Amino acid sequence: MFKAMGRASHAVLLILCVLRTVKAFEMEIIPAERIVAQIGGTLILTCNTTGCASPSFSWRTQMDSPLGGKVSNHRTYSTLTMNPVGIANSHSYLCTVICERGKKEKSVKVELYSFPSDPIIEISPSLVAGEPAPVICRIPDVYPSHHLEVLLKKDEHVLHEKDFSDDDSTNTETKIVKYTFHPVAEDAGKEITCVARLPIADMDFEPKERTSSQKLDVNFGPQNTVITASPGNSPMEGDSLNLTCVTQSNPPAQIVWSKYLAEESIQHLIKNNVLFIPRVHFNDSGRYICEVINLVTNKTEEATVDIIIQGAPVITKLTIEPSTTVQEGENVSIQCSAESNPPPKIILRRKSDNADIGTSSARSILLPSVMFQNGGDYECVAENKYGTSKSEITLNVKYGPKNTMITVFPAALKEGETVTMKCTSSGNPAPVISWKKKKATGESEKISKNATITIQNLKNQDLGLYECEAYNQFGKEEKAVELFVQARLEEPDQMIPLIIAFSSVAAVAVPAVAILIYVSRQAKINGSYSLVKALRLKV
Ligand SMILES: *[C@@H]1O[C@H](CO)[C@@H](O)[C@H](O)[C@H]1NC(C)=O
Ligand SMILES: *[C@@H]1O[C@H](CO)[C@@H](O)[C@H](O)[C@H]1NC(C)=O
Ligand SMILES: *[C@@H]1O[C@H](CO)[C@@H](O)[C@H](O)[C@H]1NC(C)=O
Ligand SMILES: *[C@@H]1O[C@H](CO)[C@@H](O)[C@H](O)[C@H]1NC(C)=O
Ligand SMILES: *[C@@H]1O[C@H](CO)[C@@H](O)[C@H](O)[C@H]1NC(C)=O
Ligand SMILES: *[C@@H]1O[C@H](CO)[C@@H](O)[C@H](O)[C@H]1NC(C)=O
Repeated sequence: MFKAMGRASHAVLLILCVLRTVKAFEMEIIPAERIVAQIGGTLILTCNTTGCASPSFSWRTQMDSPLGGKVSNHRTYSTLTMNPVGIANSHSYLCTVICERGKKEKSVKVELYSFPSDPIIEISPSLVAGEPAPVICRIPDVYPSHHLEVLLKKDEHVLHEKDFSDDDSTNTETKIVKYTFHPVAEDAGKEITCVARLPIADMDFEPKERTSSQKLDVNFGPQNTVITASPGNSPMEGDSLNLTCVTQSNPPAQIVWSKYLAEESIQHLIKNNVLFIPRVHFNDSGRYICEVINLVTNKTEEATVDIIIQGAPVITKLTIEPSTTVQEGENVSIQCSAESNPPPKIILRRKSDNADIGTSSARSILLPSVMFQNGGDYECVAENKYGTSKSEITLNVKYGPKNTMITVFPAALKEGETVTMKCTSSGNPAPVISWKKKKATGESEKISKNATITIQNLKNQDLGLYECEAYNQFGKEEKAVELFVQARLEEPDQMIPLIIAFSSVAAVAVPAVAILIYVSRQAKINGSYSLVKALRLKV
């Protein structure tokens, strides 16, 4: 029985012991460990009790500074809410609980940090290569800033590093890192990165590193401007030609094509990177300029190319100065020029001649005081390895009558026979020929407007001086012929056959006059002026 009792009381004791253990007065602060709070965030400290029916709570800081939070008491626990957490919350907080069974207290240290947002990069949206580019990286509201480390990188390359270990800010502050670099053309498209780190090893918060990046827009150029000519710098006449101007520039450059003209002036062609000439001519040879302008960097660059059009010659000029129709004595110049590349061999000559007169380009023939013999067709031949080109021009030299000549047929004849006298003359325009006969009185009488006169049944009275006149607007020329008795045939019959001859004389020529005088004197000796009697004399 006692044995049983003893066992039972043992059990009761055990139960009592268990009850006493469960109901023991305890307290804790949640969270219990070191508290790392972000400034600006919310932090709730809970002071929890067990084993106390109606605890009374009190919160204070170890330095007895203001709590910087709101206390809210519940039956078994109390909360201290810090919203937002501020720099004033950096303390050890002490929670004291008083229960009927006693008093307990615990403290917890609140540590603060602030690293709320990514860095902000400030950099000009359009940089110019070679010019200083300031970069600003702002790290907003950092705390504690003496831990802050900032890196500025261009892609993977570190441009600049800064640590703030000497910084003694006591509150959150926006930290600024400034750096100036000189971008190059190759930097276009690369990224500038600002890496901010707050590496506090024994504080547990994330993230401890924040980064921001910005793509670089680097304006550069124009530079390395080159021209390509397709199919080449020496296309054949008639080919198409593309001149392409390539430059490196951001933003793309404005391109203006122009060409140097002979007079040092410049001809503006097009605003396009390709200058297309569908059919080139020799006059398209020359120096072309591609001028490129980057309106942002405000730089210009120029490239030039010399184009030589090749091909068979083209005669560009064949002229006679002062005119194709001139008068004898004028100063005449005949000029021929042709273009081609390679340069043509030019031959300018009178067609009827065969001698080369000139052998280089822009040839001319000078005919000072031109003569009628210089008239005629002139030919210009231009030739190079690609071909030959020919052109003709006629020089018409006007001149007065020349080389006026009388021919008599037959050369000697007898009285009663027929004689033909023909007068020819050159001149331009062709001279008009007329015949006159000198009468005994000395006057001349027009006898024919034909170049040829025929006297049939020649008689004594037909003897005498015949004058031929050749005339055009540039002058006149006269020639004369005398029909006279050269010999007398002494025949017994009454007829006196005469051998008549002629003598070509100038219209006023002395020999003709002499003969006339002789004939007249013989006539006078015989006391009469009968030509027939005179002719009877032996000459
Ligand atoms: C207090 O502690 C008890 C026991 O550990 C737990 O059940 C209760 O949820 C806690 N109260 C608060 C407000 O944390
Ligand atoms: C020039 O360019 C045009 C188009 O722009 C093309 O049709 C032509 O074939 C090119 N000519 C040459 C010689 O490159
Ligand atoms: C170049 O030559 C071509 C053909 O000979 C001609 O049509 C064109 O007018 C010339 N251009 C100039 C600028 O002289
Ligand atoms: C560009 O350069 C020219 C001369 O070099 C100057 O007159 C002009 O003001 C500049 N323009 C800009 C936008 O910089
Ligand atoms: C021809 O040229 C010569 C010398 O150059 C000059 O003396 C003469 O007057 C010129 N004649 C004419 C008709 O122009
Ligand atoms: C000139 O001669 C031709 C024949 O030779 C003749 O027909 C013509 O009538 C003559 N004229 C004169 C004016 O005598």
